Amino acid sequence: MVDPFGRQITYLRVSVTDRCDFRCVYCMAENMTFLPRKDLLSLEEIDRLITAFIDKGVRKVRLTGGEPLVRKNIISLLRSLSRHIGTGALEELTMTTNGSQLARFADDLAACGIKRINVSLDTLDRDRFKAITRWGDFDKVMEGIAAASAAGIKIKINAVALAGVNEDEYDRLIQWCHERGHDLTLIETMPMGDIEGDRTDQYLPLSKVRERLEERWTLTDIPYRTGGPSRYVEIAETGGRLGFITPMTHNFCESCNRVRITCTGRLYLCLGQEDSADLRAPLRESEGNERLNAAIDEAITRKPKGHDFVIGRDKRPSVPRYMSTTGG
Ligand code: GTP
Ligand code: 5AD
Ligand code: SF4
Repeated sequence: MVDPFGRQITYLRVSVTDRCDFRCVYCMAENMTFLPRKDLLSLEEIDRLITAFIDKGVRKVRLTGGEPLVRKNIISLLRSLSRHIGTGALEELTMTTNGSQLARFADDLAACGIKRINVSLDTLDRDRFKAITRWGDFDKVMEGIAAASAAGIKIKINAVALAGVNEDEYDRLIQWCHERGHDLTLIETMPMGDIEGDRTDQYLPLSKVRERLEERWTLTDIPYRTGGPSRYVEIAETGGRLGFITPMTHNFCESCNRVRITCTGRLYLCLGQEDSADLRAPLRESEGNERLNAAIDEAITRKPKGHDFVIGRDKRPSVPRYMSTTGG
């Protein structure tokens, strides 16, 4: 699959549920309306859809949400998908999770061939954690991360940079992650979905953060790539890796290799654009994949050049859709 800008699509992000057991302040409103359950694809349908993308050249699949581990029987889907690792068709099967259910599922994930996961953790302070996630349980996440590590799964911690909320904590997060052998990635907040707060107050450009970090640490750019948008540095003092995801200050759309599907079978061509294509109807129309493949091919011709996220006071979110619908 090659889009009109010559970008090869090899990375599929699949939101298996838009529901979540947390209510992070930058991600969701406290009262959310979720997609109707009757519209959800079954796990078998998700499997068929992902397999069709793998047949078309996808080499990396990431399950996201909402929180992917709150979807019932999610391990059966992963177990089934792991056959594509066995055949060599799939290079990486992975997940982005809030960590709340990891203690329960870590061994299952490792048994499904998952070698690396990303865990969202914006703070190491228990009270702040509560303030950010509203519904989260800090100790459970700590247990989850430890269990995944003990199961042999590599961990990358994702922290959204939030002005006045966690901006004094990056040194500590770096130390904590690198002592445990985890990568850490900092992320700029993106204006998706209506939240209670004002994103202008939350927004912290990572260019500024990097300057501050350079006063204390020795950062060296490294060519390490995972297929995601993060650009990495190595920190001489810890020997660990730190990534920056900078959609606002240093756009990475030029090398975009990914598309997203929602739990209702909608294909989104860009995180920051509303254009999408329904894959559920062609999927259900017949057991063969002819119509489905045609719908995917047609959609890829519409992949936009990039997002046009803007954060500004009194502005509506650039994209009304919540991040949790398409899993970031
Ligand atoms: P790695 O495989 O470890 O590189 O992970 P990843 O960065 O691809 O995935 P992850 O789920 O950890 O995403 C981290 C952040 O990057 C999330 O906040 C995503 O929304 C953001 N992100 C991923 N892809 C894109 C993209 O195409 N555009 C934008 N604007 N943000 C993205
Ligand atoms: N901007 C940036 N990152 C976000 N995430 C959720 N909502 C937003 C937002 N509006 C992050 C989560 C998780 C990743 C998948 O996306 O913290 O790490
Ligand atoms: Fe849930 Fe992740 Fe959104 Fe937090 S960022 S509410 S953990 S989907």
